[in-house]
Amino acid sequence: MSPLSAARAALRVYAAGAAVVLAQLLRRCLGGFAEPAGNNDSKAQDVVRRLKEETSNDKVEFLYCDLASLTSIRQFVQKFKKKKIPLHVLVNNAAVMMVPQRKTRDGFEEHFGLNYLGHFVLTNLLLDSLKAAGRPGRTARVVTVSSATHYVGELRLRDLHGSRCYSPHGAYAQSKLALVLFTYHLQRLLAAQGSPVTANVADPGVVDTDLYRHVFWGTRLIQKMLGWWAFKTPDEGAWTSVYAAVTPDLEGIGGRYLYNEKETKSLMLTYDRDLQRQLWAISCQMTGITDVTQDTLLG
Ligand SMILES: NC(=O)c1ccc[n+]([C@@H]2O[C@H](COP(=O)([O-])OP(=O)(O)OC[C@H]3O[C@@H](n4cnc5c(N)ncnc54)[C@H](OP(=O)(O)O)[C@@H]3O)[C@@H](O)[C@H]2O)c1
Repeated sequence: MSPLSAARAALRVYAAGAAVVLAQLLRRCLGGFAEPAGNNDSKAQDVVRRLKEETSNDKVEFLYCDLASLTSIRQFVQKFKKKKIPLHVLVNNAAVMMVPQRKTRDGFEEHFGLNYLGHFVLTNLLLDSLKAAGRPGRTARVVTVSSATHYVGELRLRDLHGSRCYSPHGAYAQSKLALVLFTYHLQRLLAAQGSPVTANVADPGVVDTDLYRHVFWGTRLIQKMLGWWAFKTPDEGAWTSVYAAVTPDLEGIGGRYLYNEKETKSLMLTYDRDLQRQLWAISCQMTGITDVTQDTLLG
């Protein structure tokens, strides 16, 4: 990436963020964000209530997993499987944003390695657990958190690690674009296998969290001054993921991009099946995951 395209990537990411912030401000003025509700969602609300109760009652067990390390992910999956806990929902939520150029333990550019490849491997290694827990009428779910920056992302298949000219903005947007392509391909594989598992993407909007700790100081200042008003609160930001994880409206439905608890279109490029397949194949090569695409979709 040349310095000019790096500057262009930064402008595009800030423009995408500003567009979301303006839409959120408008919505605040028109009444704000409402927790997903309605008859259909009473079950969903019940799950959320129980989750809240359990986390506040210390009934939750934590297992360490560093998504920037393939070894750590494999160790985590081993430990998790030993516990024989049914896995109904996997939310791929972790990320870093606009970090300086650095590598994961396995030598991948950090955004691509952690945000995308980390979740790619985690999901693939947990698929058998998800398949075992899901059943028709109560499918297990993979919810992958992307971002509006995917709309301005570019997938550089020949330089996925940004080694030629690094742009933190371009790298973050690329990782979020890769997650959408990954989810759609995963959904196609799951559907072709007749698996009781679905995969969807959740876009939280612009949320007032620590994700912004590496961004340009001017953006941090705006967050500090206006975040309480223009950004979603962490609770509001989580609603789309929670909705995707538990709503009966999405029973058996996958391959959707969800924003403000509604389906919307992702970038046109994300529907390109060849590109999805290429990215999947490269990701398998990079991480040692067996690529079942040939046997499942083309065999
Ligand atoms: N905030 C926004 O405006 C916004 C907008 C669009 C999309 N998103 C997406 O929303 C998701 C959540 O972000 P957030 O806003 O809640 O940011 P956040 O508060 O910074 O949370 C990021 C999470 O990622 C985890 N994480 C970072 N590195 C990790 C690693 N190596 N291994 C395992 N976990 C790691 C962090 O764990 P620790 O706390 O233990 O470090 C933290 O829980 C991300 O996917 C982000 O891209 C956020």
